[in-house]
Amino acid sequence: MTLDLFADADLQQPGRLDSIGAQSCVLRGFALPWVERLLPALAEVLVQAPFRQMVTPGGFTMSASLSSCGALGWTSDRDGYRYTRLDPQSGRPWPAMPEVFRQLAVEAARTAGFEHFVPDACLINRYLPGAKMSLHQDRNERDLTAPVVSVSLGLPAIFLFGGHARSDRTQRIPLLHGDIVVWGGVDRLRFHGVLPIKDGHHPQLGAERLNFTLRTAG
Ligand code: SIN
Ligand code: FE2
Repeated sequence: MTLDLFADADLQQPGRLDSIGAQSCVLRGFALPWVERLLPALAEVLVQAPFRQMVTPGGFTMSASLSSCGALGWTSDRDGYRYTRLDPQSGRPWPAMPEVFRQLAVEAARTAGFEHFVPDACLINRYLPGAKMSLHQDRNERDLTAPVVSVSLGLPAIFLFGGHARSDRTQRIPLLHGDIVVWGGVDRLRFHGVLPIKDGHHPQLGAERLNFTLRTAG
């Protein structure tokens, strides 16, 4: 028998908070009421800063495509990972962070126990079926007291949530459209990643998964 995790309607009772660590949780369906406002704001960002595939310092092309908005945007190339004020592709500042992104992230952070979250960077990842994100830590941000707020839309994913060493065992956490993961405090530097996205069709987004991660980077 194959177990289809996503067939389980229980996974997404909006308003449910699943603890995944001492200071980390999944807020099930938290973004659902915001989607209608998120998508047009995202489209405007992408006109100014289209998705592009980046190369890791090790020379691998990432399978997810990236963009950013906010005062700082995240970039990877042969020289390393870093935040920049300008989009290297256009030479212009990254698009401003839409107010609806900021508000949603602040409310999610507060619900997860992090008051006064002030995000200044939002990475936007697009995964087509087959794309993945290898285990990594988010450690390029200057303020590691602020949490990471990660919003998932579109096709489902299995989020891997590990420990403080790359080799620590990982929890496999199914993420559905509208779910938000928040990790901070003692969990802020835990390794995480995403298994290859399975083929599928989402009624609003078609054959893709979008993920926004908001951070305090500067
Ligand atoms: C990331 O860690 O940057 C992305 C996480 C995700 O896509 O859920
Ligand atoms: Fe990350």
